[in-house]
Amino acid sequence: MNLKQMVGIEAATHVTDGMIVGLGTGSTAYYLVEEIGRRIAEEGLSITGVTTSKATEKQALGLNIPLKSIDEVPYVDITVDGADEISSDYQGIKGGGAALLFEKIVASNSKKNIWIVDESKMVETLGKFPLPIEVIPYGSQQLLKKFEEKGLNPKLRLTADNERLKTDSDNYIIDLHMETIPNNKVKQLASWLDTLTGVVEHGLFLDIVDTVIIGKGTSPETIN
Ligand code: 5RP
Repeated sequence: MNLKQMVGIEAATHVTDGMIVGLGTGSTAYYLVEEIGRRIAEEGLSITGVTTSKATEKQALGLNIPLKSIDEVPYVDITVDGADEISSDYQGIKGGGAALLFEKIVASNSKKNIWIVDESKMVETLGKFPLPIEVIPYGSQQLLKKFEEKGLNPKLRLTADNERLKTDSDNYIIDLHMETIPNNKVKQLASWLDTLTGVVEHGLFLDIVDTVIIGKGTSPETIN
């Protein structure tokens, strides 16, 4: 079993009958969704899923997981999602899979958030992983210029075919290649990004996570 599978299966043990469950996006969350699908089929687990991307929606429908949109539920009991980096003070960068907008909406409506990662995602400071910013296409060149002027080394994310990548909401992603974001500067950066017109959402997920499940060695480590 690989580390992503290990943490996905471990996270699924936090899911119990009757829960409304936020289903994350990415290659680690994939295993959580598979395990929930298995438990529904084999153990009669009864849950309602709220997906965070079209990709996860497709996977969940294939597994016959009952789904509702975030607007059809009163709240989400628990959301399990991956992360691109988690700092020593448990702040995160997400959005490597371009799903940060729905992921943040679902996470911020969840009573509990669990992140599942392999140990390579645990870092001292954020920023080695480029920080994804979701922007509306109109005015995106102006935002690129603004980020460039600030020395944030922005790059518009492209697809494998060299097209501009479009998110599930038809927006673009600008990745900020900052190399490092000192822990005491993270909130300041998030607040500034929040003020920019045309920025829909950014990949700094701050003060959101309750539990981190880390895949390492032969068994997962859970930090609450
Ligand atoms: C998608 C995300 C993912 O959770 C993040 O990129 C981690 O993905 P993976 O588990 O494939 O490494 O934020 O937008």
